Amino acid sequence: MKNLINISKKIDQFRSKIYIPSDKSISIRCVLLASQAIGKSRLYNLLESEDVINALNTIKKLGINYKKVKNHYEINGFGLNGYNTKKNLKINAGNSGTLARLILGLLVNSKKEITLVGDSSLSKRDFSRITNPIKLFGPNIISNNDNLPVKIIGSNYLRPIKFVEKLGSAQCKSSVLFAAIKTPGITEVKAKKSRNHTELLFRSLKIPIKISEKKNYDYIKISGPCNFQGFEYKIPGDISSSSFFIVLTLLAKKSKLVLKNININNSRIGIIKILNKMNAKIVFKNKKKYKGELIADIVVKSKDNLKGINCPSSLNSSAIDEFLVIFLVAAKAKGISYFSNLGELDKKESPRLKIATNFLKNIGIKYERKADNIKIYGNPNLSLEGNYEIRGFRKDHRIFMMSCIAALTFGGNWKIYDKDSIKTSFPTFLNKIKYLGAIIN
Ligand code: S3P
Repeated sequence: MKNLINISKKIDQFRSKIYIPSDKSISIRCVLLASQAIGKSRLYNLLESEDVINALNTIKKLGINYKKVKNHYEINGFGLNGYNTKKNLKINAGNSGTLARLILGLLVNSKKEITLVGDSSLSKRDFSRITNPIKLFGPNIISNNDNLPVKIIGSNYLRPIKFVEKLGSAQCKSSVLFAAIKTPGITEVKAKKSRNHTELLFRSLKIPIKISEKKNYDYIKISGPCNFQGFEYKIPGDISSSSFFIVLTLLAKKSKLVLKNININNSRIGIIKILNKMNAKIVFKNKKKYKGELIADIVVKSKDNLKGINCPSSLNSSAIDEFLVIFLVAAKAKGISYFSNLGELDKKESPRLKIATNFLKNIGIKYERKADNIKIYGNPNLSLEGNYEIRGFRKDHRIFMMSCIAALTFGGNWKIYDKDSIKTSFPTFLNKIKYLGAIIN
């Protein structure tokens, strides 16, 4: 089957309400936590994408059964010591950094050696950011060059740690918090602000967690070990997957879109804050709270007077997966946009800052990159007619989807390769853009 799509027509004048697939971060956290709960958990609206299926396969290999029942998944856990592993077990996290990094935290007490592997993209990503703090709890971890594969043999004598997380990485913070719930004593984490789904889940599970929030850092204390009971969770829509549709609507002509039931947790809505500073006028409707998370409908309309932004780097972590589409808006905005301290972007499924700058160059947008900072010279009259080919992006799902949005809003004839990449986070992406009128061959 061909793994390439062609787009050669812009999209405009759509008015619609859509549901976006569920939050990937919360889906993976729920599967992993349910696998360590005592008794049955029921997960509604679990994201059915490859990254989450890999999480389900992972817990199965660790001896935890799950089944799909009508509209939910049932997972039966046996508590914090409930993993039952075979000899020479290999866990394959596929493309998912979140799964690989978080599961390592839960393997600190594994009884046998486990080898963690991933696909070729994940195998190029840094694991020392996880293995360094996790080693301090006591397990034996062996890895080459700070990359996967990583081998871990757990310890019976875990000790609590003090850890300062400086990257603003929710994966690092969460991996340490996962290890902390298994460890007797008080683990203390000073973490640069990042998405806080793990902490909110812990609170809703009554895991004893204390958080003191300061301007740039959160100070977290967990007193372990803390067994918890099976739970129910209904997972809301994903803001990162929504971001492609938000930008599509903003840059298309005469269109309006309502994205239903999206998680608008403050630690995730950097994109909305950034786009609104660029004059996007995106609003939230029907706000409600659920297990500490904030959920709402997002209403977005087309805008032709967008302006450049000097983006505060304090928003970086809360928009970390959305910068690719934010750059598209900057390309079409009036004036210069400036983004700083974006080094973490090159640590994702592909080196995204590098790929994004090449992308801007190919579509004729002037930019300057100095170290981890980028200046984009916007062109409100941007309208493309040439031929564009997008390939060789390490099958990064977000590069594929961002390229589709550029093709649908800037014009030109596009060939975009590695369509299958969307299976990791958003398998129905192409159906949704077709539903809004996109013609895809
Ligand atoms: C995630 C955290 C972010 C994000 C990733 C999902 C999570 O990574 O880019 O897509 O679920 O915790 P970092 O923690 O490495 O910034």
